[in-house]
Amino acid sequence: MRLRNVKNKDEIMDNSLYLIKNYFDYKGKWNKLFGNDNPIFIEIGMGKGQFIINNAVNNPNINYIGIEKYDSVIAKALQKIPDNLNNLFMIRADALNIDQIFDKEISKLYLNFSDPWPKKRHHLRRLSSNIFLDKYNFIFKTEKNIEMRTDNRDLFTYSLVSFSNHGYIFDQISLDLHHDNMPSITTEYEDKFSNLDMPIYFVNCRKK
Ligand SMILES: C[S@@+](CC[C@H](N)C(=O)[O-])C[C@H]1O[C@@H](n2cnc3c(N)ncnc32)[C@H](O)[C@@H]1O
Repeated sequence: MRLRNVKNKDEIMDNSLYLIKNYFDYKGKWNKLFGNDNPIFIEIGMGKGQFIINNAVNNPNINYIGIEKYDSVIAKALQKIPDNLNNLFMIRADALNIDQIFDKEISKLYLNFSDPWPKKRHHLRRLSSNIFLDKYNFIFKTEKNIEMRTDNRDLFTYSLVSFSNHGYIFDQISLDLHHDNMPSITTEYEDKFSNLDMPIYFVNCRKK
C-alpha cells in the first residue's frame, strides 16, 4: 500500500508512544517491553492498522505488534490508536529483517492481504515464500502459527504449497471466508473486497 505523502507523518511518528523506533534493541525482550508474559501476535504489512488495533482493543490479554514498511501508512495507523491501549506497539520495518527483530517470542503471525507480486520473477518477494518462511522459523516461541487472508487466488495456492513444503499442517481453510464464517474483525482490504462480493481466501496453519 502506497499512500500520498502524509504531510505531518514525521511529527506523528516522533510523538507516538506506540511506535518503537529502536526495535532491534528489543530482540528476545518484547515481553519485558509489554511488562507481562502474555502471548505476542504480530501482523506483517498491517497497512492502516484496522485489524490489529481492533484485535488489541478486544483482546487485552494478548500483546500485538503491527509491522509496516512505509512511513505514510504507519503514520495513518498510529493516528487511529485509541488512548491508553497497553497491549499494542507498531514498528516501521521491512519483513526481510524479521529474524533480527524477534527471537523465539511470537505466538502467532498474521499475513493479511499481503502484496501478491504476480510476476514469477518476483515470487520470492511474497511474504509466504521460502525466504520469509525460513526467517519465520526463528521468531516463534514454541508452536509456529500463521494465519493468512487474501483476495488473490494465485497467492493463496502458492502459499498453501509453500506452507505445506515447510511442514505446516492446515487447521482451517476457506475459499470464501465471509460466507463460511464471517469474522468479527476485518482488515481495510478485506472490507473493500468483500463489499465487491469477491471471495476472501483464508488459511490457519501450524507447525510444531
Ligand atoms: C495490500 S496492503 C494490506 C494492508 C492490511 N493488511 C489490510 O489487509 O488491509 C499490504 C501492506 O503490506 C505492506 N508491506 C508489504 N511488504 C512488506 C514488507 N516486506 N514488510 C513490511 N510491510 C510490508 C505494504 O506497505 C502494505 O501496507
